[in-house]
Amino acid sequence: MRYIGKEMSRVDGVAKVTGKARYASEYKVNNPAYGYIVQSEIAKGTIKSIDVSKAEKLPGVLKILTHRNSLKVEEQSRQFRALQNDKIVFCGQPIALVIADTFEQARYAANLVSVEYDREQSATDFDNLGRTQTRSSPARGKPAEEFEAAPVKIEAEYSIPIEHHNPMEPHAATAFWEGDKLTIFDKSQGVYGVRGHLARSFGIAAENVNVISLFVGGAFGASLNVNYYPFITALAAKEVGRPVKVNYTRRQMFTGHGYRPYTAQKVSIGAGSDGKLRSIIHEAATNTSSYEDFTEGTTRFGRTLYQCPNYDSPYYLLKSDLPTPTWMRAPGAVSGAFAIESAIDELAYKLDIDPVELRLINYAEKDPDSGKPFSSKELKTCFTRGAKKFGWERRKMEPRSMRDGNWLVGWGTATGTWGAFQAPAGVNIRLNNDGTVLVGSGTTDIGPGTYTVITIIAAEVLGIAPEKITFKLGDTDLPRAPSQGGSLTTASVGSAVYGAAGEVRKKLLSFVDKKDGSPLFGAKFEETELADGNLRLKNDPSKGIRIVDVLKEAQMAYVEVDYQSSPSPERQNYTTMAHGAQFVEVKVEERLGIVKVTKVVEATACGRIINPLTSHSQEMGGVVWGIGMALHEATEIDHRYGKMMTTNLADYHVPVNADVHFIETEFVEEKDEIVNELGIKGMGELCLVGIPAAIANAVFHATGKRVRDLPITPDKLL
Ligand code: MOS
Repeated sequence: MRYIGKEMSRVDGVAKVTGKARYASEYKVNNPAYGYIVQSEIAKGTIKSIDVSKAEKLPGVLKILTHRNSLKVEEQSRQFRALQNDKIVFCGQPIALVIADTFEQARYAANLVSVEYDREQSATDFDNLGRTQTRSSPARGKPAEEFEAAPVKIEAEYSIPIEHHNPMEPHAATAFWEGDKLTIFDKSQGVYGVRGHLARSFGIAAENVNVISLFVGGAFGASLNVNYYPFITALAAKEVGRPVKVNYTRRQMFTGHGYRPYTAQKVSIGAGSDGKLRSIIHEAATNTSSYEDFTEGTTRFGRTLYQCPNYDSPYYLLKSDLPTPTWMRAPGAVSGAFAIESAIDELAYKLDIDPVELRLINYAEKDPDSGKPFSSKELKTCFTRGAKKFGWERRKMEPRSMRDGNWLVGWGTATGTWGAFQAPAGVNIRLNNDGTVLVGSGTTDIGPGTYTVITIIAAEVLGIAPEKITFKLGDTDLPRAPSQGGSLTTASVGSAVYGAAGEVRKKLLSFVDKKDGSPLFGAKFEETELADGNLRLKNDPSKGIRIVDVLKEAQMAYVEVDYQSSPSPERQNYTTMAHGAQFVEVKVEERLGIVKVTKVVEATACGRIINPLTSHSQEMGGVVWGIGMALHEATEIDHRYGKMMTTNLADYHVPVNADVHFIETEFVEEKDEIVNELGIKGMGELCLVGIPAAIANAVFHATGKRVRDLPITPDKLL
């Protein structure tokens, strides 16, 4: 491999640090107006009256949209859409959009919109909400009986509060119409999803909607679903006949794009005294809204984690008067892992077996759920290599046995796992006779480095230097490609680029394989490759022609290929997952209960690494996220009013530099020929999955105190 596997700085790095990269509300449009969202102050009830007369008269105010004058969407969907009727279903619900010449005028006028409600009592207190059972995989074996019969048992309950994504860039859109054609710059993880949503909302053809999202300042799932603001932004632009920009405030971010749901879990594990797992019952309940069911794979990933013959994973929903949750980095998996991987740690102490050893005793060589082999699984190597790097063999088993002055020292471990997903993806490649290449695909790059890795892959498979390649994404004018979510972009779009490069080579070869005197006369497709700027024979690289010369001799300005890739059917015969082992050291100040995560070693097996530079960055980001989830993050709700309280970055705590110490990430490369031709799995969510559990386990090791309710704040340790 010439480019794949070598470190490469971000191709969009300079644009980002110099401000050339445009984000959703930064696009220059002619004479924009600004919309400001007015939100409900109650969580449940009806709007009795809404008086906009004062606000309307203010200078600069162009129009105020409410449910009384807004376009009503005909599409039947349970998804929330703004300004459709007088019903209030969550606190912070948008009830008006004030459009004015400036943002300040719009915001000021928004304060003068006065609303009267018929208020009903809202229900958000999770302990008092009714449970409804929802989809779950059928149990395997006889989990209840085998749990009862097991000589060693663990039963424990865990909870995770609502958490919010809090990307740096607030959600925003800039929209304008030319006749019945809509253009919208949106902060989005999937431009095609936004296009379909807006086409259905306005009853127009999808081709008449162009959605553009070239740069995204973090999203983490918060822009996977289409949020409510693109519709009202586009509607406002239509109503005032001008481009309109709508920007969430930081506070509006907490009710405007979903959140990780509140999660209550119970884990029951039955084991033999040899440490062999006999039965696991992993039960979870997450909250949803009153109008829409949101479920995630909370109890799904645990099922493939260990060799355990009996397993059940019931899943319940709690209907609440809050907005609908959504996916948030490693959705379901990280929440489930916190419970399962804490419980396995609890079992390790009960059995007095080292927690790494216990995981290896129960190592699943095949997927215990389906019986299928894993396409690749280097988890064991992750544990052995990670343990060595960390110095795990020096660990003493007893809690409170290690100390550094006033600080209790604890070492914890956990497993992380995430699916190696792939989705159909389209790509367009145009190779010019000056040696430059344009690659385009309608996916997005929300920060992991997709611009760069796809450039690397294109360079590799086309045999052309990365400097000559321009990769475009984030535009519905480009071929349809999946949203950036589920850690599947590189596998999906990378595979499309791989396939497209084959078609490019086929075309190039067809220009020269019938020419007398051509070094490639009679050459077969399988015998050729694109490398070092040449089309050449694989087993005799001296026999080749410069790609640019192939085109020039054929008197072609360029060759162009549209290619659509799909996951290979062979994947169906395997379970395709990525894995990781996490090792964490914490220090806990005994008198103050302060926790510092002083050292993390994360060993990850997720197929082939395309760009080690951005990949290590991803893994470190996952660790930092895990520190936040374990120690800091919580959205507090005042249940009297159904109102989210910690709706700013002062009250909603996230890790800062001072919370982040030594992190080492290591990849155990897998040669996986099943997942796709390039052997690519995902890593952006995987890296987070085991971290909160590993931190909680380390805190137990340090203090002897098992905290089962995140976040682990000092009060819980005192
Ligand atoms: Mo991620 S929650 O798949 O954006």
